[in-house]
Amino acid sequence: MTEHLTIIDHPLIQHKLTLMRRKETPSSTFRQLLWETSMLLVYGITQDLPIADVNIETPLCQTRSPILDGKKLALISILRAGNGLLDGILEVIPAARVGFVGMYRDEETLEPVEYYCKVPAELDKRLVIAVDPMLATGNSSVAAIDRLKKEGAKELRLLCLLAAPEGVARMKDVHPDVPIFTASLDEKLDARGYIVPGLGDAGDRMFGTQA
Ligand code: URA
Repeated sequence: MTEHLTIIDHPLIQHKLTLMRRKETPSSTFRQLLWETSMLLVYGITQDLPIADVNIETPLCQTRSPILDGKKLALISILRAGNGLLDGILEVIPAARVGFVGMYRDEETLEPVEYYCKVPAELDKRLVIAVDPMLATGNSSVAAIDRLKKEGAKELRLLCLLAAPEGVARMKDVHPDVPIFTASLDEKLDARGYIVPGLGDAGDRMFGTQA
């Protein structure tokens, strides 16, 4: 049984995360670091995927060798910041199907508002990995997972870069069957719903949309 929360604390991930947290890190560097980090995070979230031996022939001999043998993967980017994790994951798992759930956060209520949803067919037959860099209040992740379950998803995981205890607790409350993988469990949320110490607004940091 997978733990509800797994912290993927490889030294390379922690190093890159520190660079991303720094407020002076420019958007171009931030995006590059997030891309690199997402490839490393994939290692943690896919570590228990089933494999099975098949017969192959190397240039030297016949042998049996393992290949992936479980459900096919679907990656769901929770827009817009999810795209920052998606590209790196696709480098490593190019055959994964990809979907998008567009959520923005109403800055007054902090409630998620869905504006887009397009997901691969037969989600029920896939291992669905939802990606969103920041698990803050948990509101948008909970809403996106709600939506994915309505679309048929049965086996789900959530990958984020940073998580706040409040978001982890909310996910555990509403979706205890969805394991969360993150590079760091930060301290808390501030009054505006930002993760502290965090790294600011991940979308803005990626795309340079705020001064
Ligand atoms: N979303 C972000 O991008 N950053 C936070 O700190 C919280 C939510």
